[in-house]
Amino acid sequence: MSIPAFDIGPVRVDPGLLLAPMSGVTDSPFRRLVKRCSGDSVGLLVSEFISIEGLTRKIMRSQIRMMFHPEERPVSIQIFGSDADLMAEAAKIVEDSGAEMVDINCGCPAPKVVKRGGGAGLLQNLPRLENILEKTVSAVSIPVTVKIRNGWCSESLNAMETLKIVEGSGAQSLAVHGRTRIQLYRGEADWNIIGELASEASIPIIGSGDVLTAADARGRFEQTGCSGVMIGRGAITNPWIFRQIVDEMEGREAFDPTWREKIDAIEAYRGMLLDFYPEKVAPGRLKMMLSRLIKGIPGAADIRRDCMRTHDPFEMLELLTAHCDRFGILDMDSAGITERLRRREFPVPSSAQAA
Ligand SMILES: Cc1cc2nc3c(=O)[nH]c(=O)nc-3n(C[C@H](O)[C@H](O)[C@H](O)COP(=O)(O)O)c2cc1C
Repeated sequence: MSIPAFDIGPVRVDPGLLLAPMSGVTDSPFRRLVKRCSGDSVGLLVSEFISIEGLTRKIMRSQIRMMFHPEERPVSIQIFGSDADLMAEAAKIVEDSGAEMVDINCGCPAPKVVKRGGGAGLLQNLPRLENILEKTVSAVSIPVTVKIRNGWCSESLNAMETLKIVEGSGAQSLAVHGRTRIQLYRGEADWNIIGELASEASIPIIGSGDVLTAADARGRFEQTGCSGVMIGRGAITNPWIFRQIVDEMEGREAFDPTWREKIDAIEAYRGMLLDFYPEKVAPGRLKMMLSRLIKGIPGAADIRRDCMRTHDPFEMLELLTAHCDRFGILDMDSAGITERLRRREFPVPSSAQAA
């Protein structure tokens, strides 16, 4: 099965696999890393959410969050807030930045956002959402899209009602995280609702929640008939995930990078961070990425500790390369490492010896 493409207005999303917006994660360097690792297998990259107040007041942090590199295209910039005029003004700023589309966040569960009526708070006030969408759609010529949760709580699953408002306003796609605001990230995402929306909708429906493997993605496409599947947490620890899903769904063995290839990607990411952020921000971001990727390698605790001690992003990668070399895993992929760990073929790490 190949993954179907779909259109959001004039923008082709091909394949229908999208990087989910994630605050604190999907900044421009991370999106570029995903593009580097997964290439054409990711159909659309979505930014972390950006405050409409921040954008319209020209706050530097918000402006930085809106920046993107040409190699990320097509890219969608997500904004949040609750004031219709400011939303329209912020969407215009996004349009002027050259992004392909602007997405309106109606799913953020954070108390400080919902208390002010934004994020998932909009699911409790659909007339306000309708007003926001109408003003925003008429303010810009790029597609306006919407991302929601399936409702505020299990007693108010109003995704279908929200879909009608989204369609009626002229917004051009709806992404749905199959959990309620009250659920936060607990339990499992409910894809039945996503299927019901997909069978009713005149615009593309994109499903989100708990997709970690090709089997998950295939199952969700088949179960729901949705146009696209969004991947969030699965990409944080594995930026190759889109490529692996496309490989498997097209009947090939999934690409499994060796540690040498992983280190090459991390090196490229280091360059992207240093290009994008001030010198003192980049090391922290690189450390976060390293500690996610090294989970499960032999001696992970040792190399994590060593990398945390330095602030030099070049030294971090020298340490990691030397570590992988010492364990003989530079040319090994994760399947190889798992197999050798199972057979207890690696030397006992020094942290375990000390314990
Ligand atoms: C760290 C983190 C930050 C997130 N930030 C956003 C955000 O800024 N905007 C948004 O619409 N959703 C946000 N989400 C929700 C994701 O886009 C996605 O819908 C959710 O994580 C379920 O998908 P997953 O199981 O593939 O992670 C965030 C999720 C995580 C884990």
